[in-house]
Amino acid sequence: MPTKPKVLVFAGSTREASFNKHLARLAAKRVEAAGAEATFIDLRDYPMPIYDGDTEDAEGIPDTARQLKRVFMEHQGLVIASPEYNGFITPLLKNTIDWVSRPDGDLPGLAPYENKIASIVSSSPGGLGGLRGLPLLRQLLSNIGVTVLPDQLAIGGASQVFDASGNLTDEGHANKLNAICERLVVTLQRQL
Ligand SMILES: Cc1cc2nc3c(=O)[nH]c(=O)nc-3n(C[C@H](O)[C@H](O)[C@H](O)COP(=O)(O)O)c2cc1C
Repeated sequence: MPTKPKVLVFAGSTREASFNKHLARLAAKRVEAAGAEATFIDLRDYPMPIYDGDTEDAEGIPDTARQLKRVFMEHQGLVIASPEYNGFITPLLKNTIDWVSRPDGDLPGLAPYENKIASIVSSSPGGLGGLRGLPLLRQLLSNIGVTVLPDQLAIGGASQVFDASGNLTDEGHANKLNAICERLVVTLQRQL
């Protein structure tokens, strides 16, 4: 039995009813169906203060960032589902990525991102579905060594696109999410 690639899946929102958490959970299922091992995490379980260099100098990085660095290291792939705030990356997502990019003892800052392959998706109640945030997230991830696959998905009208079980009601959206997750897993399998 060949080793399965491991994919870390999370949303750029901690909101209990977050549409992007729905999307991330669905993506985790599609990643598993495509033959990889998916780990869904909720960033609410990794609270971190807004980055402050003095805090870091005095106390080091927060335990949650230390833990999350280790979690990243255990995975080869990422799926991030994030809303945009004012057309930009959410502060939660940026702050988390920043803390995880800081060195911790012998573990270099960018080690958790090196050689990672990612897919990015978004959803929002608005018409564009968070589309404007995706190129910025793509750029941020590229800056720190993550290869972001070209295909992406932004789902607008998010309050109407999930059924009671959290599944996507539109076949086109569901097929696209599936294709994105399959492409990620196939790409990761080539690297094993
Ligand atoms: C500060 C702020 C700015 C926002 N800006 C945008 C925006 O630029 N585009 C958009 O589609 N939605 C925007 N929204 C609405 C979010 O997409 C909406 O709250 C969404 O449900 C958040 O994602 P979540 O459901 O995963 O928590 C904004 C929300 C907040 C709180």
